[in-house]
Amino acid sequence: MANGIDDKIKLSAEILAKSKNAVVFTGAGISAESGIPTFRGEDGLWKKYDPEEVASIQGFRRNPRAFWEFSMELMKNTSAEPNPAHYAIAELEKMGIVKAVITQNIDMLHQRAGSKKVYELHGSIEKLKCLDCRKEYSWEDFSDLLQNSDIPKCKHCGSYYVKPKVVLFGEPLPSTVLYQAIEESRRADAFLVVGSSLVVYPAAELPYIAKSNGAKMILINAESTVADHIFDVVFYGKAGEILPKIVEEVKRIKSRI
Ligand code: OAD
Ligand code: ZN
Repeated sequence: MANGIDDKIKLSAEILAKSKNAVVFTGAGISAESGIPTFRGEDGLWKKYDPEEVASIQGFRRNPRAFWEFSMELMKNTSAEPNPAHYAIAELEKMGIVKAVITQNIDMLHQRAGSKKVYELHGSIEKLKCLDCRKEYSWEDFSDLLQNSDIPKCKHCGSYYVKPKVVLFGEPLPSTVLYQAIEESRRADAFLVVGSSLVVYPAAELPYIAKSNGAKMILINAESTVADHIFDVVFYGKAGEILPKIVEEVKRIKSRI
């Protein structure tokens, strides 16, 4: 087990450089340095908001306005751009090392940083959909409404149950994406988790699947998680500081081969 930060960076880089099938799994913590608040932890959103009310499908059905007020506050505060952690992961993919990114995030920052193969377990904010007639919309379709802090109403069936295509508590995950993410995790020989408390299922199952299929496990998180014991290398720190160092070390190793 590596102890010092430099040892851990070397060891992680060796694991990644040697791997044939490295897979990255991310959560809200990777976007924290982009200014997007996390859900849990000290300044987590769930300290301020009740997830049952603003982030569950039952809550949305009961009161779509509360969901929209929460979402609008989130979006107003963030003109988020990818940070060095997102770029480091995209670079590892470009180098042929990372084969897939599985994310619980809905912010699309991995794609904007250049990652190509991204599995979005909880959907994304790219599009909206009417829960009643299934019609899909882009944000432009409602831009006037949202500017006036009104909530979207389906232009097709008149329903107020129009929401971004993100997974709320109480909703199933998109089944094809989940199936593919399980397959990627099973095949992984190196599995790198970044910025997740690993408490929300079924997403949090994936590191265990990778581990039980023999993957070398690396964790980068600001604080300890419930699953630290399954990892070979554990960093407690900021993803945007640690990941670029790992990439530099991978490059050094690759240039020697
Ligand atoms: P959480 O908010 O539960 O966990 C984020 C983790 O990132 C915490 O353990 C932080 O310590 C850590 N963290 C914070 N800043 C960091 C940094 N700069 N570098 C590295 N780590 C950092 O987020 P998730 O695990 O993604 O689901 O949460 C899972 C799901 O719960 C979300 O997808 C969302 C939420 O409710 C739904 O809404 C369905
Ligand atoms: Zn509709």
